[in-house]
Amino acid sequence: MNKRKNTLFNNTSVTLNNNSFIMAIETSCDETACAIVQGGRKVISNIVASQIKTHEKYGGVIPEIAARKHLEAINVVIDETFKQSGLSPDDISAFACTVGPGLVGCLLVGMNAAKSLALVYDKPFIGVNHLNAHVSANFIDTDLKPPFIALLVSGGHTQIIDVKSYSELEIIGETIDDAVGEAYDKVARLIGLPYPGGAKLDELARQGNPNAFKLPEAKVGEFDFSFSGLKTAVLRLVKSFDGKALPAADICASFQECVSSTLIKKVKHALEIKGYRQVVIAGGVAANSEIRRKIFELKKYGCRVNAPIMKYCTDNASMVASSAFFFNNTYDDIDVEVFSRVKA
Ligand code: KG4
Ligand code: ZN
Repeated sequence: MNKRKNTLFNNTSVTLNNNSFIMAIETSCDETACAIVQGGRKVISNIVASQIKTHEKYGGVIPEIAARKHLEAINVVIDETFKQSGLSPDDISAFACTVGPGLVGCLLVGMNAAKSLALVYDKPFIGVNHLNAHVSANFIDTDLKPPFIALLVSGGHTQIIDVKSYSELEIIGETIDDAVGEAYDKVARLIGLPYPGGAKLDELARQGNPNAFKLPEAKVGEFDFSFSGLKTAVLRLVKSFDGKALPAADICASFQECVSSTLIKKVKHALEIKGYRQVVIAGGVAANSEIRRKIFELKKYGCRVNAPIMKYCTDNASMVASSAFFFNNTYDDIDVEVFSRVKA
């Protein structure tokens, strides 16, 4: 399972084991990240250079600027990762990176760096799917093994994934329009919170009444989601105050209640249908306090629940290294191209 071919001489290979160090790079959006992880579970060094300050003034990520910022940061971030680890390139068993989905110009920077390292040091190259990487954040510092249900909630994706084994992940449900993080960011903007508003909305919601306003829950497929109607309902609600003081905390709390209860209801159903007793949460929105609280409540049904610590929920490279170690559906060909959307 863990045998990977070296890049230069195809007749030589490396067998990854619990002592193997994988260096991974993540540049799919607005974080330039690099990490070294041992045996897929133990983080040796983890460096993240965030571009949030750069994009804040535009209210969102500008792809061309993001790619240029990655180019400026990548060598410094890689150097710092080696420095923090006390390891040298010769100690690394394989070089990995995110190849998609993400912003193509951004992905190219990380992928070219990872491929160059793999070629120069003649080590295996492992291309990783960003969504699998988010799920893999749950392997860090745990003994988690498939099968389990993963709720993936990020700025670009909302999926329920049936992780049957290290080689078989099936997306059994997803959003038909906005991703949860996107809905959070859009609603935060309506309320007047700065970008990226998800975490700020979460904070404000904690001071409000979750039952202040009844917001609509979309009627879609068994495991699917839709958040655009909810976003429109919040817009109408905000407009109805027509210049009068906005009960922002109550609106945030009601929105958060509607989103979190919908997510957890569908996850619980997936667990029942699949007969699993393990569930994990992943992606930037997995940092949300109410979604975390509700998913951990599933423990009372005898479920093992796992959520990565906050710094491994948002984009980072440790999760990429972990994914490169555990999952077999990787893109190991040195000629692999980056991709912007999920591949079938
Ligand atoms: O996974 P991620 O770092 O990037 C993507 O791959 O999309 O997720 C970023 C998203 C943003 O939409 C951000 O607003 C949201 O995660 N987010 C949160 C919270 N922290 C980050 N949303 C709700 N509550 C939070 N505490
Ligand atoms: Zn992400």
